[in-house]
Amino acid sequence: MNKYVIRGGKPLFGEIEISGAKNAAVAILPAALLVDGVCRIENVPQISDVTLSLEILSALGANVRMLNRTTVEIDCRHIRNFSVPDDLCRKMRASYYLIGSLLGRFGQAQVAMPGGCNLGVRPIDLHIKGFQLLGAKTDVLGGYVYAEAPKNGLSGTNIYMDQVSVGATMNIMMAAVLAKGMTVIENAAKEPHIVDLANFLNTMGANIMGAGTDVIKIRGVERLHGGNYSIIPDQIEAGTYMACVTATGGNVLIKNVIPKHLDCITSKLVEMGVEIREEGENIRVIRKRPLKRTNIKTMPYPGFPTDMQPQIAACLCLANGTSMINEGIWENRFRYVEEFKRLGANIQVDGKIAVIEGVGQLNGAPLQACDLRAGAAMVIAGLAAKGITEIGSIHYIERGYDELVRKLRGVGAEIAIVAFPDEDSRMDPAVG
Ligand code: UD1
Repeated sequence: MNKYVIRGGKPLFGEIEISGAKNAAVAILPAALLVDGVCRIENVPQISDVTLSLEILSALGANVRMLNRTTVEIDCRHIRNFSVPDDLCRKMRASYYLIGSLLGRFGQAQVAMPGGCNLGVRPIDLHIKGFQLLGAKTDVLGGYVYAEAPKNGLSGTNIYMDQVSVGATMNIMMAAVLAKGMTVIENAAKEPHIVDLANFLNTMGANIMGAGTDVIKIRGVERLHGGNYSIIPDQIEAGTYMACVTATGGNVLIKNVIPKHLDCITSKLVEMGVEIREEGENIRVIRKRPLKRTNIKTMPYPGFPTDMQPQIAACLCLANGTSMINEGIWENRFRYVEEFKRLGANIQVDGKIAVIEGVGQLNGAPLQACDLRAGAAMVIAGLAAKGITEIGSIHYIERGYDELVRKLRGVGAEIAIVAFPDEDSRMDPAVG
């Protein structure tokens, strides 16, 4: 079993290049199923969730070709199989996008229920309600979701989301692009990857308006044609490296970002005493002074992202004073707290609230990653802690971070992947 071994306590200096956005990629790759032509997709991050998405497309009969490390060509003109195997779906939450894309293009989908629920209850009722409103018949039976369009196809309609959901917004968008007439999604999520999916589909000939606002209008078109598209930079990957510098101190240029997408993270780091300078498509993060406390409430975009909550918690463990985190999206997103306590952190959790008493210094210890962002937060804490931190179950982290070790070593971090005897090779269900 591989672990990360970190010798912490060193400030970081240099440059880090950000990869394509995971949460955009895991939607855009299945959305290629909607396209009756060849898509060339650039800036695809090399992470295990992408490898799995491409494996699923191949299993369905798509022709998938990597042109270079970050560019893939996908041809979905000859798909014959509309059923996605259970073993592949279980490993990745985002496999739910296959329902919307297969249903939208072929009028039928049979997809195993997506992987487990490490962040608490993760229903897909809003996705299913949307498909039903478009006219599909759906069933959940024997661990599979079945969806079927009527003989004359799906029809556009008005869909009001009673809760803001990133996944349901994108899945309904996929099912609606080829439906007859106009679909209006109200109370839609506004995350950058929603805009990216809409831009991808529009490049291929779809007619989607309003993505990035809370009303998205989709006028159905006859067919999508092939084309080229480049995925946006990863907001959360960039935020994670900003948090690394916040925790360790130093001066790092984070390259290839969309600064606007980072505003929600930047404003909190500035409150904590970090200096942040926008330099075109790059962001410079400088931390010289001791960190100040702050409070965080996670919310849908443009609020503070829940996917940055554990990483900012790692920084707050080192700040002066008491900080409070209110988790507004997921029920169970403080599982990292017990691991942080091994490093000497002082955190009390009550339901969706965590109170963090800054301790000034953490001390290295052996840790186990428990999900993707919690794992990233453990890396941040380990980089700041004095001495050696070992992090196990790094498969979680590799789901979402492209070359994390190489990027961190490039700014002077002492981190390595080390093979250990197989004491714990559990493969827990996926989240993210
Ligand atoms: C996506 C992200 C995940 C991020 C989350 C919130 C991907 C692959 N994952 O997850 O990293 O943490 O957005 O930014 O992009 N809900 C329902 N019914 C549904 C769907 C959701 O009640 O049918 C609830 C959820 O339980 C949760 C809230 O809505 O409390 C938000 O979930 P949602 O935005 O759908 O998250 P995901 O799309 O699964």
